[in-house]
Amino acid sequence: MYRAEGVRLKGMEQNPYRLDNRTIIVTGASRGIGASVARVAARQGANLVLVARAKDDLEAVASELATSVAIIDGDVADTETAERALDAAEEIGTPLWGLVNNAGISPFYHQVVDTPLHEWDDVLRVNLLGAAVFARAAGRVMRDNGGGRIVNLGSIAGLTGLPNIGPYNASKAAIDAMTRTMAVELGPHGVLVNSVAPGTIRSEMVDGLLSANPALAERLVAKSPLGRVGDCPEAAEPIVFLLTDAASFITGHVLVVDGGRLAAG
Ligand SMILES: NC(=O)c1ccc[n+]([C@@H]2O[C@H](COP(=O)([O-])OP(=O)(O)OC[C@H]3O[C@@H](n4cnc5c(N)ncnc54)[C@H](OP(=O)(O)O)[C@@H]3O)[C@@H](O)[C@H]2O)c1
Repeated sequence: MYRAEGVRLKGMEQNPYRLDNRTIIVTGASRGIGASVARVAARQGANLVLVARAKDDLEAVASELATSVAIIDGDVADTETAERALDAAEEIGTPLWGLVNNAGISPFYHQVVDTPLHEWDDVLRVNLLGAAVFARAAGRVMRDNGGGRIVNLGSIAGLTGLPNIGPYNASKAAIDAMTRTMAVELGPHGVLVNSVAPGTIRSEMVDGLLSANPALAERLVAKSPLGRVGDCPEAAEPIVFLLTDAASFITGHVLVVDGGRLAAG
């Protein structure tokens, strides 16, 4: 059982980056950033519950990992999916330590005044409600355990006015607001809550958008101080860092992982 004070596990003091004997739930783990988070967390010794809709893809990711792994195929916005994930975590046997709320969609490309209202429903349902469903379910367990970590996926899109993806931007700004609120509410229980705001990271989500808009791809690279977009492990490593004891005094924070893109204005 974890306590609000002294959350470090015996034997872990040597290496605050290890996650041995801790179970982490990762949503959207079938590909992209979520699959990378699973690989990095497994390398650090974590046991994992991987959640997404595509069972075959989840199985492929799980088969690479050398720790205890359960897979849950389902929609993150269904409370039943979260319940199955918690059951699977309990079955693994090590305490539920972390949740990475990573599942997300950005399928539309319209100005706000041209966005059909059902697209707001679709995006907010996955990106915001799905994250709230899992944060609520896992947060209750962590609160009762006296400690844990929640990392929510925001985006620099939630911190700027990137055109043509209004519902996505709004969903990610809301994620940051939920993060701060939960950090304040759960801090006294030893549960730390942060969000990570990636810039452009090569994944299926972004590849579709950029191949449909080569001019946008060029602009993004031109505006990056590093002169490139990021790759999935470059987003995953900071996410996993926030799950570790090395991040034990960070909560309510939005960690921007964008290769300097926001700094460049
Ligand atoms: N890539 C970027 O540049 C970037 C930048 C900023 C923020 N982000 C955020 O990072 C997160 C991951 O993005 P990504 O680039 O890795 O995207 P991706 O490659 O499209 O992966 C999205 C993941 O979410 C899962 N997912 C989508 N809808 C779901 C649902 N209703 N229920 C359960 N799982 C669902 C997908 O699996 P299934 O299809 O199998 O369900 C997949 O595993 C997202 O929250 C995204 O907004 C990405």
